Amino acid sequence: MSSKAVFDGKKALRGGAPICFPQFSDLGPVASQHGFARNSKFEVAEGELDPSGVNKSHNIVKLVLRHNDETLKMWPHEFMYSITFTLKDQGIEIDVEVMNQGQCEVEFTTALHTYFAVKDITQVGVHGLHAVQYLDSLQGRVTKRQQDEVLRFPGEVDRIYLNTPNEIIIADEATGRHILVSKAATLFDAVVWNPWVEKARATSDLGDEEYKNFVCVEVGRCGSPIVLPAQATWKASCKFEALEAPPALACL
Ligand code: BG6
Repeated sequence: MSSKAVFDGKKALRGGAPICFPQFSDLGPVASQHGFARNSKFEVAEGELDPSGVNKSHNIVKLVLRHNDETLKMWPHEFMYSITFTLKDQGIEIDVEVMNQGQCEVEFTTALHTYFAVKDITQVGVHGLHAVQYLDSLQGRVTKRQQDEVLRFPGEVDRIYLNTPNEIIIADEATGRHILVSKAATLFDAVVWNPWVEKARATSDLGDEEYKNFVCVEVGRCGSPIVLPAQATWKASCKFEALEAPPALACL
C-alpha cells in the first residue's frame, strides 16, 4: 500500500487489488478511468466481520456490488458483481461473478488491478509473456510482441498483454521470492504497469520513490469486451501465491 494512499471514498486506494469494472482504463463507455467499482461501497455477503472490519472467523470473504441509482447514471445496466477472497496457506484465491440482471445484452471490460510488493523494481523479472502480443499504452496502444524472454523494467512500463498463458511469474530477484499469478481461461489478458520516476512524482497518492517497490500485474479482459446476454453470469478466478523457491514451470 502506498504511504500516501487516501481512503476517502472518492478514489481507489493506491495498493491492494482495486477492481476495474465495468471497464479497464478507458476501454468502455464509462467516464471514470477503470470504471466505478473501485470507488464504490460493496456489501459483505459472506464472512463475519468484527467492528474494525476484520473477518474474524473464516478465511473467506465475499463482497457484492449491485446496481443502484448512482451506478445506473454512469452505466445504465442492472447487474450484480461479486468477488470472493479465499486465503490459502501461500496466498489468495479470488473468484469473480458478474450477473447481468437486465433484459438486454451488456458489454464490459474488467481487471483486478493487483499491486505486488517487490524489493527493487530494477531486479524484477516477469516470466511467461515471451512472444505474447501486447498493446503498448505508452505509445498509443500500438500492437507489439514481447521479444525478451523475461520482461524487465528499465523505465516506465504500461502494457496490455493479450491472450496470455494462464501462469505468469513475478521473480523478485533481490529477495529470491517468486509470486505465481494463475488465472482461469476466461481472463484472457494481463496488464503490466510500473509508473517509474516521472509518473510517480506526478501521482499525488504515491511517494516519489515508491515506484521502486511495486509492480502491477493485472489479470483481466481488456483487449476485447465480454458480451454477456440478459440474465447470464460471467465467472472468472485467479490465484496469487508467494513461493520461496522458483516454481518448476516451463517459462522459468
Ligand atoms: C494501469 C494502467 O492499469 O493503471 C495505467 O495501465 C494507469 O495506464 C495505471 O496509469 C494507474 O491508474 P490509476 O487510475 O489507478 O492512477
